[in-house]
Amino acid sequence: MTGKVFVAGAGTMGNGIAQVFATAGHDVFLMDTDENFVKRGVETVGKNLDRMVKKGTITQQDRDAAVGRIKGVTSIDSAAECDLMVEAVFENLELKRNMFKDFDAIMPKNAILASNTSSQSITQIAAATARPDKVIGMHFFNPVPLMKLIEIIKGYLTSEETCAAIRDLSIKLGKTPIVANDYPGFATTRLIMVMINESVFALWEGVASAEDIDTGMKLGMNHPMGPLALADLIGVDVCLNVMERLYSGYNDPKYRPCPLLKKMVDAGLLGRKTSKGFYSYDS
Ligand SMILES: NC(=O)c1ccc[n+]([C@@H]2O[C@H](COP(=O)([O-])OP(=O)(O)OC[C@H]3O[C@@H](n4cnc5c(N)ncnc54)[C@H](O)[C@@H]3O)[C@@H](O)[C@H]2O)c1
Repeated sequence: MTGKVFVAGAGTMGNGIAQVFATAGHDVFLMDTDENFVKRGVETVGKNLDRMVKKGTITQQDRDAAVGRIKGVTSIDSAAECDLMVEAVFENLELKRNMFKDFDAIMPKNAILASNTSSQSITQIAAATARPDKVIGMHFFNPVPLMKLIEIIKGYLTSEETCAAIRDLSIKLGKTPIVANDYPGFATTRLIMVMINESVFALWEGVASAEDIDTGMKLGMNHPMGPLALADLIGVDVCLNVMERLYSGYNDPKYRPCPLLKKMVDAGLLGRKTSKGFYSYDS
């Protein structure tokens, strides 16, 4: 697969995904709902690449060529000329299903439709299209240009051919793919969220302070960041949402969200985005 790529959503993940494809030589359409969002997305790519030029990782010429390959758009029309669409819009199942239905209607019949979702069901997204065999999860990590992993998620009806094409493409992008089947939380989100939830239980039960839990995981387990600081970074509401999805998805009490997570969300303590979560941040 060497053709044009359509990236839907120019936010944190979308602009990083566009950057990775453009740097690897793909022509990219980067789409968002509003011209300003698109502009901001393309500018972010330019600034990230400027930093790489300063560090000597890429040449000015390669930087300019990569930025030149990204075209910002506010409609999905150009997807009609793309081989691949990667969706990185808000984490909302209905929104994603509606978008996949629209892309399915206009994209070439062999095109692959991928979602960057970190927790929604690929099978449910695929069911909104007439080509569930060509719908797949392509889960990039933040920050996209730096993180090596792509977690490929096979929906219930995703074909081996589609999976192989996305594996090959991921390697060509300089990433390392892993493959997970479509169960709640896949392979990565499930494990990180259980760790975060358990650390909230430890805090709630008075086992240790937030600082000591995080220091324990950083210095004892060599994690770059403690789980509670990570929850603040991800968003306490996002963590609760994913735990609720794991709990209902597996019908297993081991995924019960800690009541403290719920309390914090009720109180509006969502982490860095509200300046207060398990820690306080300067606003
Ligand atoms: N942020 C992370 O660390 C991370 C990591 C892995 C996966 N993800 C997943 O990636 C996806 C995007 O997350 P994000 O952090 O980039 O979110 P974000 O809020 O930064 O960006 C989402 C973008 O989608 C745009 N958007 C919303 N509706 C749209 C539509 N109908 N058409 C086009 N654009 C639309 C928004 O305007 C926004 O710019 C989510 O599914 C999320 O779960 C996020």
